[in-house]
Amino acid sequence: MTLQPAPKQPGDSGGEQGAKHPRALYGGKGARRITVHDIAAAKERGEKWPMLTAYDAMTASVFDEAGIPVLLVGDSMGNCHLGYETTVPVTMDEMALLSAAVVRGTKRALVVGDLPFGSYQEGPVQALRSATRLVKESGVGAVKLEGGERSLPQTRALVQSGIPVMSHLGLTPQSVNTMGYRVQGRADEDAHRLLRDAKAAQDAGAFAVVLELVPAELAAEVTRSLHIPTVGIGAGPDTDAQVLVWTDMTGMTGGRVPRFTRQYADLRRTLGDAAQAFAEDVAGGAFPAEEHTFH
Ligand code: KIV
Repeated sequence: MTLQPAPKQPGDSGGEQGAKHPRALYGGKGARRITVHDIAAAKERGEKWPMLTAYDAMTASVFDEAGIPVLLVGDSMGNCHLGYETTVPVTMDEMALLSAAVVRGTKRALVVGDLPFGSYQEGPVQALRSATRLVKESGVGAVKLEGGERSLPQTRALVQSGIPVMSHLGLTPQSVNTMGYRVQGRADEDAHRLLRDAKAAQDAGAFAVVLELVPAELAAEVTRSLHIPTVGIGAGPDTDAQVLVWTDMTGMTGGRVPRFTRQYADLRRTLGDAAQAFAEDVAGGAFPAEEHTFH
């Protein structure tokens, strides 16, 4: 009798022994929630890991079951979920509500709540109030905030109060009105500033740094220079982790998607086809059928 290999599970790397990058975060075993300590250990092992955004309980549960170790309730919910043009209008009430839904939909993932524009820029006291709300009310395990030097006092205050912070550098969409949507850190001076900001965020206690839309060579240098992980989006292949916005990654986003995204599904077409098939069944009297009917 020929034994068939067991079906592949998320995270299978062909066995720990001899595996080039043994995986524990993505697809790792264990029923408990992932913590920032697990994230730190992954950097030491050289394990690369995926992060996705999520804005509702059901989608979050799919990603959690697929083994995605970190879910970001990004303020990209503004344009990808709530119908705003940018992330700027997102409020704390919206972030708290959707973060709680994502936490309820997951068992294992570390859920990171984004601090929306206007919820931390006033200073450490405001940042602490906003972040505390996401931790206590929504149940997130960490928060993310944008900005280098200007956000260091906030980062320090949160970390000292026991709230893990993910920093966000490079293109920071909350500053779209001053920055636009452009690759950041191309000029030498900007690259040096970004590297300085990343080290300062680490020194202030951040557990990870998102690098958005920066040249791959710069992201690689930042990644080598830090002992905390970098999470790239449009930052090339050499960051410790990669994050994508879930609606881009699954083809839900209509219109143009950013060049740095890979589309792994065509959900927009699948949902549209399903809606049309339903509509035609209703119009033609094919739904509901006998098996859907009570007597
Ligand atoms: O809000 C978001 O989705 C983000 C990611 C792009 C990192 O900040």
